[in-house]
Amino acid sequence: MTLFARKTIAALQAEAEADHKQGSAETLRTLKRSLSGMDLTLLGIGCIIGAGIFVLTGHAAAANAGPAVVLSFVLGAIVCAFAGLCYAEMASTVPVSGSAYTYAYATMGEFIAWLIGWDLILEYCLGATSVAIGWSGYVVSFLHGFGIEVPNALSTAPFAFDTVSRWTQTGAILNIPAMLIVAVITILLVIGIRESARVNSVMVVIKVVIVIAFVAAGFSYVDGANWVTSGNPQGAFVPPSQGEDGVFGWSGVVRGAAVVFFAYVGFDSVSTVAQETVNPKRNVPIGLLGSLIICTVLYVLVSYVLTGIVPYDKLNVSDPIAVGVDMIGMPWLSSIVKLGAIFGLTSVILVLLLSQPRIFYTMSKDGLLPPFAAKIHPRFRTPYITTIVTGTIVMLLAGLLPIGLVGELVSIGTLFAFAVVSVGVVVLRITQPGLHRPFRTPAVFVVGPLGALAAIFLMAGLPADTWIRLGVWMVIGVVIYFAYGIRHSKLLRDRAKQNF
Ligand code: ALA
Repeated sequence: MTLFARKTIAALQAEAEADHKQGSAETLRTLKRSLSGMDLTLLGIGCIIGAGIFVLTGHAAAANAGPAVVLSFVLGAIVCAFAGLCYAEMASTVPVSGSAYTYAYATMGEFIAWLIGWDLILEYCLGATSVAIGWSGYVVSFLHGFGIEVPNALSTAPFAFDTVSRWTQTGAILNIPAMLIVAVITILLVIGIRESARVNSVMVVIKVVIVIAFVAAGFSYVDGANWVTSGNPQGAFVPPSQGEDGVFGWSGVVRGAAVVFFAYVGFDSVSTVAQETVNPKRNVPIGLLGSLIICTVLYVLVSYVLTGIVPYDKLNVSDPIAVGVDMIGMPWLSSIVKLGAIFGLTSVILVLLLSQPRIFYTMSKDGLLPPFAAKIHPRFRTPYITTIVTGTIVMLLAGLLPIGLVGELVSIGTLFAFAVVSVGVVVLRITQPGLHRPFRTPAVFVVGPLGALAAIFLMAGLPADTWIRLGVWMVIGVVIYFAYGIRHSKLLRDRAKQNF
């Protein structure tokens, strides 16, 4: 059936080879077949540690899980471990840019691939939007430490959203710092800024050192008394449910996991460099799982220390780690933490804004998006049109939207992609059992279905509103596919020619 036409693995592997032959300029790849397991681990950490830990931890603790946000992080890590194993097999078998979109094209056909490509916009565009909003919170807080005040009206979203009052106006005009950072990074990406392993490593070292410094400085200040609040008079680690689904209690832990799952987003960046990796069979799993393990340990420690030094109902702020540092009374560390977060978040925005045009580029080459999306700038050799379009959209969203709302949409979009990749890996094992797989997911018939179920389980922990938004987004995607993609698909046109 046309809708489920699949790309063959051989065709995808040939595309990967062709990309190599065309050279790095057109494909934005700079780290050609040279990455080690350590490089991939650093790349993973570079894209993983960002707004999730520096911003959303506070939101999830205050609104959903209380101190048990620690358990939310563990739950998120388990889901990621299943998905990470499946990504490792797909990335080593089909080492083509496009990540989950490409894997779905090879396993479940064009229509599902399109849906996943469309869904990845939530992950990358809205991911960059969330991180830019977090960046703004930290910059304002950092400047405040030096006596420079950025008015609230110019540094927060004009709209707020909550399930009770729905959309309300905050009185603010625009989140200007969030818009500025997106604009600056977009310009840099257009003129050819590239992530090198070295620059990334520096960013990672700064981030990790600062996170460890926070844990080390705060550890001795952890006090269970901070768990006692008006909603949690007994000071329980899992605060009692407030009656509403997802507001404390165990449903709150699950909801919290779905929210902080954002903190783990960044796997794709590891999987998309599989073709530039030496010995991917060994190194891709090291990169995916190594970065996941390191980040999980750091996240669990940070969330434990943070909720142990600040009453969790005071954490619904845009710079919770900085609030934690202020609480232990080390003003010099506060500025360093904020600066580190600013650098860290900058690198995440950069990688996300670099990845999105790349996926558009792959989809455009397949004919599912107009050819201009695959246009390369003659001088800068970057996909400049999609980079500018992506940057402009993200800039507007970052200026207008509140972080909680955007973060949940990123999580649901990424979890959906994880579920599809987990199913895809099993489908490929059944349909092409003899295929050479440099890395094989262990116990795939258990890990794959568990990966999909775990992702759906976390998705189920997200509010109905987020599901409705995902549904609306996907319906728009279906309409665009039938209005454009199906008529311009290169694969379908090639097949039609062959049958003629
Ligand atoms: N995981 C990345 C972050 O938390 C996207 O910012």
